[in-house]
This record gives sequence, C-alpha cells and structure tokens, in this order.
Amino acid sequence: MQRLLSERHWDHFYIPMDSKLATTSLLKKGYLDLPIPEGIDLVGEINRLKKEKNAVLMAHYYQDKSIQDLADYLGDSLYLAKAAERIEADVIVFAGVHFMAETAKIVNPSKKVLLPDLKAGCSLADSCPPDAFAAFKAKHPKAIVVTYINCSAAIKALSDIVCTSSNAVAVINSIPKDQEIIFAPDKNLGRYLIKETGRDMILWDGACVVHEAFSFDKIVALAKAHPKAKFIAHPESESQVLEIAHYIGSTSGLLSFVQNDTADTYIVGTEAGILHEMQKKVPHKTFIPAPVEDDTCACSECAFMKLNTLEKLYLCLEHEQPEIHLAPALMEAARKPIERMLAL
Ligand code: 13P
Ligand code: SF4
Repeated sequence: MQRLLSERHWDHFYIPMDSKLATTSLLKKGYLDLPIPEGIDLVGEINRLKKEKNAVLMAHYYQDKSIQDLADYLGDSLYLAKAAERIEADVIVFAGVHFMAETAKIVNPSKKVLLPDLKAGCSLADSCPPDAFAAFKAKHPKAIVVTYINCSAAIKALSDIVCTSSNAVAVINSIPKDQEIIFAPDKNLGRYLIKETGRDMILWDGACVVHEAFSFDKIVALAKAHPKAKFIAHPESESQVLEIAHYIGSTSGLLSFVQNDTADTYIVGTEAGILHEMQKKVPHKTFIPAPVEDDTCACSECAFMKLNTLEKLYLCLEHEQPEIHLAPALMEAARKPIERMLAL
C-alpha cells in the first residue's frame, strides 16, 4: 500500500498556522469533517456554489473522473500552473495535490485557493525536507538548482528554476553547458533527463510511489499478450520501464500521443486517472493501465490524488475551507523560480 503523510509531516507542513478553523477539530483530518445533507445532488450543488462564489475548479488528470468531469480547467501540472496565473475569479478550488494548490496561490496570490483535503500530499514533495535539501545544496555551492514542480514552496524558494515533466528537457537545455546542475526531487525523472540532454546532474534521491510501483516483468508479459499494443510511460517511471516504452511523455504528452498515433491499443504507464480523458478523446481505442508489482493494491492510482472526493469538494466550496495559506516572504521567494520557468 502507498504510504500517506505521516503525522509528523502533517503537523509540520500542512496545517495552515493562520487559519482559525485549523485549530478546531473540524480540520483535524485535513478536510472539513461535517455531515453531508441527505439526498443532496452533489454535482448540482457544486455547480451552484461555483457560480454563487465566483469560483473555478481546476483539476489534474489524476483526479477521480467525477471531479475531472466538473472541472473548468483540466490538465497536467504545467497547464494548471499557467492557467492559475491568469484566473480572474475570486476563488480557485484546486482538485489536485498540495504542491499544485500551493503553486496556484504563489502565481496568483490575491485569490482564495482551496484544496478539498490538505492531506493530499505527494511522495516526491515529502522526500525533500527543506533543512536536508539546504544542506545538500550547500555541498555544491556552484550548482544551479532545478526542481521539479512536485515539491513544497520551501524547496522552490531554495531553487533557481522550476520545471514540470512537460518542459524539463527545455529547462535543462536552457542552462549553459559548463554549468553544474542539481536536479531534485525525482531521481527517475532526473536519470531520464540526463539521458535525453546528455547533461551530468547531481540528483536528489526522491521518487513517486505510483510510477515506481510499475512492474517491468508484468508489463513485458502484458505486451506479449497484446502484441499490437504500444507501451507509453511517464518519465517519473524507473529507467528499465522507460527503456521498453514506445513513447515517454508528461501526462498531456501521453494524451496527445494516443490521439495522433495510429495504434489501437495502449498499455499506459502513468496514474490510471488519465485513462478517463484518453477514452473520451479517442473512444474507439483501448487503454490498459500498466500492471504494478503488488497485486493487492490499486497502486497505479495515486492515493494522495484520490483523497479528494465530490463530498469534500462540496464542503470545501460551501465553507471555503481548507484554504492554502503561505507566508508572503516564502511566496515571494518561491515565485521567482516558477516565473523563470513560465518565461521560458
Ligand atoms: P504531469 O502533470 O507534469 O504529467 O506530472 C504528473 C504528476 O505526477 C503530477 O503529480
Ligand atoms: Fe506525487 Fe506521484 Fe501522486 Fe504525482 S502521482 S502526486 S508525483 S505521488
């Protein structure tokens, strides 16, 4: 089973210190622990509240399909970061994980940014605590720090430039050839980038629990059983899995690939939520989630992403909690490397 946030992480990183509600038992679980009125039409109520509060719903492709279908903005990390910067509505409800909602707040600080469940974290963000990363960075004083957007605001504040899986190659290629580079926190994406760009980088030892769970042997066996299928994978996957992929790309890269490619069947090596949009875009094609090592868990689903539900989304809109709060100085420092990425 995937590990969710430890209580230590939760206490340290996720309780908004200036939120009045956070100190009450209502937000103790990370979401508003309130009863849902019986017989309520959740979809209708969410749409009503969005209008009433001048709110927009942004959702990542890894959300449950019921949430994806309600989203005003649906996309991958780069698309959502760019879109968040331009939102004019008063409220952004972010159906994704904590670092994504935090990024939306950083790029558009005057908006109220809500996250249905504050415990929707990320194993990559958790793998990179600010103190340890600052010490790591101090060992390589001449290195430029490139961080994958899947990290906390505190890590972004220690970075020179941020990237997502959609633009990571372009970001690395924009750095002078003789410049030493630290890449954090995803070692698998880092190894892929070293191969793609030919640059030697110093890697932080973090990984995504979802993309690391794919089984090389089972993918090979599945591909044998579907000889016409193409295997496509996200670069957060391990090197040996990426070596057998017909195509490697970010979530939106994978989506474009299946729309433009000629094959009928795909084994999809990323979080299974993306299959919903793939199936919608190309309904005549077949999509099979890549198998994982452990048969007893739904490990191709991100347990963090799936913490958001329609019920929590409704409560979050109704009560405008939980809200993302960040200290102004931290936001300022974390915005610079994000802006450098967006300017590229
Ligand atoms: P992208 O949205 O950049 O494809 O990243 C996938 C991911 O793991 C988000 O958490
Ligand atoms: Fe983090 Fe992986 Fe979940 Fe994305 S899929 S939020 S990288 S744990």
